[in-house]
Amino acid sequence: MRYDEVYAAWQSNPEAFWMEAAEAIDWVRKPSKALFDEDAPYYEWFSDGLVNACWNAVDRHVEAGRGDQIALMHESPITLSTKGITFRQLQTRVASLAGALRAKGVAKGDRVIIYMPMVPEAIEAMLACARIGAVHSVVFGGFAANELAVRIDDCRPKAIIAASCGLEPGRTVSYKPLLDAAIEQASHKPEFCVIFQREEEVAKLIEGRDVSWHGFQYGQEPAECVPVEGNHPAYILYTSGTTGQPKGVVRHTAGHIVALQWSMKNIFNIDVGDRFWAASDVGWVVGHSYICYGPLIAGATSIVFEGKPIGTPHAGVFWRIIQNNRIKSFFTAPTALRAIKREDPTGAWIKRYALHDLQAIFLAGERADPATVQWAQEHLRVPVVDHWWQTETGWPIVANPIGIEELPTKVGSPTVPMPGYEIHVLDEAGTQLPRDTLGAIAIKLPLPPGTLPTLWQAPERFHKSYLEQFPGYYATGDAGYIDADGYLYIMARTDDVINVAGHRLSTGAMEEVLAGHADVAECAVIGVADDLKGQMPLGFLCLSSGCNRPHSEIIAECVARMREKIGPVAAFKLACVVDRLPKTRSGKILRATMVKIADGESWKMPATIDDPAILDEISVALKALGYPKT
Ligand code: COA
Ligand code: AMP
Repeated sequence: MRYDEVYAAWQSNPEAFWMEAAEAIDWVRKPSKALFDEDAPYYEWFSDGLVNACWNAVDRHVEAGRGDQIALMHESPITLSTKGITFRQLQTRVASLAGALRAKGVAKGDRVIIYMPMVPEAIEAMLACARIGAVHSVVFGGFAANELAVRIDDCRPKAIIAASCGLEPGRTVSYKPLLDAAIEQASHKPEFCVIFQREEEVAKLIEGRDVSWHGFQYGQEPAECVPVEGNHPAYILYTSGTTGQPKGVVRHTAGHIVALQWSMKNIFNIDVGDRFWAASDVGWVVGHSYICYGPLIAGATSIVFEGKPIGTPHAGVFWRIIQNNRIKSFFTAPTALRAIKREDPTGAWIKRYALHDLQAIFLAGERADPATVQWAQEHLRVPVVDHWWQTETGWPIVANPIGIEELPTKVGSPTVPMPGYEIHVLDEAGTQLPRDTLGAIAIKLPLPPGTLPTLWQAPERFHKSYLEQFPGYYATGDAGYIDADGYLYIMARTDDVINVAGHRLSTGAMEEVLAGHADVAECAVIGVADDLKGQMPLGFLCLSSGCNRPHSEIIAECVARMREKIGPVAAFKLACVVDRLPKTRSGKILRATMVKIADGESWKMPATIDDPAILDEISVALKALGYPKT
């Protein structure tokens, strides 16, 4: 079948389409139907089925005789080690860990936070939770103690599984002090913590609360897979919204595994026994969907990569790993390719490796800029597939489904909607806009299986954030247009979320941190264009009256404060002091205009501006920081 036939088949009978997709999953009890729409606009999928995600990711492959196939390959150019784990070994390890968790009282529905770097044990911890129906919530290692504390208080975990440390190039990130500080700060206290001690740094355990992974994992009865209802939460993953309070995206089990299985074959062209690599982190949705669950559910080998595209040790590390593991489909963020391209513009590193098995590169997480796509096409000579999705959706909304048919690409467009997603471009009033016209991108409800049904214990926030603006649609928060051929183009966010090196960050959260500085009376954070990271945060600080400390001192304190409160991943390094912020007469800060000035784009004086002269002051402050760059 061609893409348009597959899409039309879904459109004409979504129920039959998803019930057929569900056949690829092992069920304990098959669902009676796909869509549960009794509570529309709150939808669920396969709710009355019984299933286990760990069974589908691990055990069924052992049962099918593929126990000796490598399930996970850990590639760590930082520790100079490579280690493979077969499906059979993974089954033993996960069942043991799940048994140990169960023996300590962790049961179906209990939450478990996982705070770990890119080691296979992070995946084992996720799968062990899935095995017993516990709900995991992985927290990215680049977040500071404060962010971890916020998540502890929101999801109230019974246990936390953490590593002693993570490894960044030239720096050991001590996780344990961050964990201790977070627990200290949080009102909710976990009953116990399991600490995976790495040889690079052995953490001091707190007696009565902490246990060492190594002693803990074995010794209890291994746990069998616990069947859970289709609408049982598989995990909670926090993502940035417009405020300092992150949104806990909930993923229901059955839709999640059905959609991932479908996407592995039809989008990424991955079959049983293939090798797939998503160079991301378990702390992000890409790590959940395409390092852990997707490839394993599909019976493919997945790579757990602890390193960077450059500097660990060189700009050829991606290609070496692709060669050595005979990777068929590779997924990364455009920023990683930009980093490599900057060091290796002629593709000399690429030529050193034999990439015979590589059939496609997938890019997501941020806009794929044409120069980077063209560089990759020229030097890798495989399709470079831009695809667009979000933490909320869990799998691609728009892509080039090369497992079905490779459609002609248009550089700058992630191509066409996947089955399950009917995309509309709307104006502010919710009216559909004609082709080639920029507007808010919305998806007609219901969203397909695998997408978020709600936010963790915040159904009102779910409604307000996604469903209220355009009744009958899910508001994506992205703006763009659809061309005459039905190709989608993503141009910008419609909210205050920015994208730094493929990481989604909230300027609102950053403003809360700056506002907490004693000398800052008012502030604004915007995202300015950056050649490498796509965007970088830039802060404007208005100081309290009477403050006569050197500005450089206050700025340095704000930079340090951001690292301490949000974490190094915020990459907050740019700030300036201004007397006033440009606002509308109703007091709204004109961030979008400031972004245009910083990026050197043409801009119009907003009709509602309170005092136009302030924009001149902003221009002067930006110039002093070197913006606009051109
Ligand atoms: N634990 C602790 N700290 C982390 C971390 C982690 N898991 N991940 C990143 N950090 C730190 C980095 O060490 C860096 O700290 P520094 O300010 O002391 O240098 C900071 O957070 C910013 O990290 P990063 O955004 O990764 O920038 P970088 O300068 O280290 O590297 C790139 C630049 C482009 C090479 C890098 O951003 C990259 O590989 N990006 C790919 C992004 C990606 O895959 N995103 C997933 C979306 S699908
Ligand atoms: P996250 O939830 O962290 O995956 O971030 C999702 C957001 O990243 C989207 O809403 C977009 O703003 C942006 N994004 C992801 N993929 C793409 C893409 N292919 N093109 C443009 N923007 C993208």
